[in-house]
Amino acid sequence: MLGATGSIGRQAIEVVERTPELELCALASGSTDLAGLASAHGVEHAQVGGDLTELLEAAEPDVVLNAVVGFAGIGATLWALERGVTLALANKESLVAAGDLALAARERGEGLLLPVDSEHSALYQCLEGRAPESVDSLVLTASGGPFRGRTRAELEHVTVEDALAHPTWSMGPKITVDSATLANKGLELLEAHVLFGVPYDRIEVVVHPSSIVHSLVRFRDGAALAHLGYPDMTVPIAFALTYPDRAATDVPRLDLAAGLTLEFAAPDLETFPLLALARRAGEAGGTAPAVYNAANEVAVAAFLEGRLPFLAIAEVVAETLDAAGGAPARDLDELLAADAEARRLAGRGVPVA
Ligand SMILES: NC(=O)c1ccc[n+]([C@@H]2O[C@H](COP(=O)([O-])OP(=O)(O)OC[C@H]3O[C@@H](n4cnc5c(N)ncnc54)[C@H](OP(=O)(O)O)[C@@H]3O)[C@@H](O)[C@H]2O)c1
Repeated sequence: MLGATGSIGRQAIEVVERTPELELCALASGSTDLAGLASAHGVEHAQVGGDLTELLEAAEPDVVLNAVVGFAGIGATLWALERGVTLALANKESLVAAGDLALAARERGEGLLLPVDSEHSALYQCLEGRAPESVDSLVLTASGGPFRGRTRAELEHVTVEDALAHPTWSMGPKITVDSATLANKGLELLEAHVLFGVPYDRIEVVVHPSSIVHSLVRFRDGAALAHLGYPDMTVPIAFALTYPDRAATDVPRLDLAAGLTLEFAAPDLETFPLLALARRAGEAGGTAPAVYNAANEVAVAAFLEGRLPFLAIAEVVAETLDAAGGAPARDLDELLAADAEARRLAGRGVPVA
């Protein structure tokens, strides 16, 4: 369990505690001490910081839950895919940045790649067993975040606290800011393209404030299959960790008789340019998605530290995409170089502390 102390990691530990078939064999965090957690779960391998692949080599897991935040999860994603070890992937940034390398590694490893993002878990389940040619398009739902309905002028002076007040999901700080800018949906658009091989012009994003419909697939016969449930990450975590068994969870069942209204609307791409920028990066291909991700990580970190206004996050990403080359990365070293260069370029647009 990589990122064991985070929002996903903590919920995943609860899933493990309630599921007799699952046993924790290794824990990793970035800087939080793991001694208490490791002894409470009788875990032999625990690592704070450092190279995640060393921990994985020592622990020999059957399933890797990658719930690290950001590009730091890349080594673990490629390690699991290369070896055919089942990868339960919450760390979308690694798949976005390393799309081509990850797909090549999965082909060699022939293992399972199970998304933990609720939208992609939903799409995975709607697509399972369907012929690719029967799929018309994918529809990713977005809550719209805390600033849905606001104008650009109203976003000029929003604070970190405002951005962290998500209406439907309780998550770590980086993804919560990404939800407020819609960069999270941009990353998810890029992630969906890598996971399901559907071209960008056939992946739509719609705003759905209550987050009950987690995503849907339209088929060529005119049918649309959707995945519904109250917003609770326990479901996609348990689905990935116990695939294909769907272990029982105690999450509340959807109560349709209590009344349920489902609302959908088009996203506001002018107020939230990071969604359109992600589509542009995806269509450009090569390392452009990695550049988008790196610039966004730099800008979000600066916003969280109070060094960058909210609207400037998108400006930093747009300028970095314009300045960086997007040539494909042939191996991990080239990808690491593209990521580092994008971070350097993005840093030019961010005031120092
Ligand atoms: N939260 C959600 O509901 C949700 C939903 C869908 C997808 N995701 C994705 O899941 C991932 C995790 O999100 P989160 O909300 O759980 O984030 P979070 O609460 O900020 O937790 C991040 C975790 O990663 C660890 N970490 C950070 N840098 C690391 C490094 N270099 N090496 C090892 N571990 C490191 C952190 O350890 P420390 O405690 O030491 O900092 C922490 O355990 C993100 O990619 C996010 O986009 C999250």
